[in-house]
Amino acid sequence: MTARLIDGKAVAAARRAALAERVAALPFRPALRVVRVGEDPASVVYVRNKDRAAQAAGLDSATIVLPEATTEAGLLATVAALNDDPAVDGILVQLPLPPHIRAEAVIAALDPAKDVDGFHPLNAGLLAMGRPALVPCTPQGVMILLRETGTPLAGARAVVLGRSQIVGRPMAQLLLGADCTVTLAHSRTRDLAAECRRADILVAAVGRAEMVRGDWIAPGATVIDVGINRLPDGRLVGDVAFAEAAAVAGAITPVPGGVGPMTIACLLENTVAAALARRA
Ligand code: GUN
Repeated sequence: MTARLIDGKAVAAARRAALAERVAALPFRPALRVVRVGEDPASVVYVRNKDRAAQAAGLDSATIVLPEATTEAGLLATVAALNDDPAVDGILVQLPLPPHIRAEAVIAALDPAKDVDGFHPLNAGLLAMGRPALVPCTPQGVMILLRETGTPLAGARAVVLGRSQIVGRPMAQLLLGADCTVTLAHSRTRDLAAECRRADILVAAVGRAEMVRGDWIAPGATVIDVGINRLPDGRLVGDVAFAEAAAVAGAITPVPGGVGPMTIACLLENTVAAALARRA
């Protein structure tokens, strides 16, 4: 391996510790409410991790668990109650939702000022206009890792693989905001490998195990792997074939221990930012 390992776990731990100090000095406790519908096993783990991290940072955190059979109207009523509760600063509705509930309708119903995921159309629109307010946590975490590792951004060629609302699209906007030349590539892109080879910064967020091979990567490039995929043998791997990529890249994030911990750290930071803005 020649690439430098980007330790997201360590960066996230440092930011969480710094945030806990800031929270302890506040005259109030920022309040986060996480809503989970049903028992999707991955969501159960993610939500538990978010709640524990929020508690550890000194936030007032609670999880609202609704049954799988909850109707869209029922979930909208829960969201409305949290919107109207002046003691609540941040609301997160864990995705995916059951198929009978339209995620777009639920996200659009959130108070944008409490939308700590940054998924509401107002927050997505502000980001697209270059006026970021509450920014999606995973791409925000990637930007922090890039800055921490000293990756030059202005003028750099950045390729984002994947165009999801949660990662790919906001990631492209943030890189553009940092003066990168951005390519947003996806499943219909002609010759993905060739696009990736042009990247100084490659962010993979497609959700396909080890799709990005070593020969897709330019020597010295910074590779950020957002994917978390479970193989049939139980191993967790990213969207990047790690060993191959690490032999070529200049710096690379591991899976696990790369981007994942940053997502939670940024959620906590967004919650505190939302609280300060609301209570100003
Ligand atoms: N499911 C997977 N990632 C996320 C996320 O960042 N936020 C929410 N709400 N759900 C998710």
